[in-house]
Amino acid sequence: MEIIRTVAELQAKLRDARSRGTIGLVPTMGALHAGHLSLIERARKENDTVVVSVFVNPTQFNNPTDLATYPRTEQADAALLENAGVDYAFMPSVEEVYPEPDNRQFDLGPVAEVMEGAMRPGHFNGVAQVVSKLFRFTEPDRAYFGEKDFQQIAVIRRMVELEGFKGLEIVDCPIKREADGLALSSRNVRLSAEQRSVAPAIALVLRSSLIKSREMSLADTKKWVIDTINTFPFMQVEYYEIVDALTMQPIAEWSDSKNPVGCITVFCGDVRLIDNIKYVR
Ligand code: PAF
Repeated sequence: MEIIRTVAELQAKLRDARSRGTIGLVPTMGALHAGHLSLIERARKENDTVVVSVFVNPTQFNNPTDLATYPRTEQADAALLENAGVDYAFMPSVEEVYPEPDNRQFDLGPVAEVMEGAMRPGHFNGVAQVVSKLFRFTEPDRAYFGEKDFQQIAVIRRMVELEGFKGLEIVDCPIKREADGLALSSRNVRLSAEQRSVAPAIALVLRSSLIKSREMSLADTKKWVIDTINTFPFMQVEYYEIVDALTMQPIAEWSDSKNPVGCITVFCGDVRLIDNIKYVR
């Protein structure tokens, strides 16, 4: 595996790689865990060359403390990527990705206005900025994203449409979980031992709500999820929305969508955790 720091070097390497076959890109912000590794494994199976970007993108953080405390584990990340059979680890500096300020405002539309879009103003525009740059630098055939950030995938699809990236397949991959159900996240390392012991309640309650949803109205199911999670120590639900999987718009009745997805964010102490569940109707 080669570690690449500059766009020019990446593009030179990928010119050759492209003549040999397909390129799969896995964009990450590092602090890699088994969730990322599952995306890489899939990319490895489906492509001739695999590029993983490791870049903590400042433009998508609307909270400076979150950016400052975001875990950075470059050496450990490089070792994991090497082991996973990655060809190129793209680990650029902020100046390399943003030689000048990126003032682009993407017209991301309704998919970006709700949930994370409402709670974290500017976040999705920052994601669109960096992912569009990574797509330009890499020109991948496929790009891999985890469904833990369910809304992010819809936003990226919208950005791809706006920017006209033709022939690029966005591949969404299932959430990876700890044995106790907690969705893998780079932020989990910030949980204290006590917080870590209650955090799986998010996934357990969501899973139980699948059964409840067969008998409860959508509004009652939502309320039950929020109230139940809030009974656990440290836990405070920020939002729980049940939305259509394609439009990301909240629905009022189960019959309003063929593919309802419940998307949640919960503060466990000061660590913001996100998760989601697909309600099979
Ligand atoms: O999901 C993430 O880790 C980030 O939002 C991404 C897609 C790598 C862009 O910085």
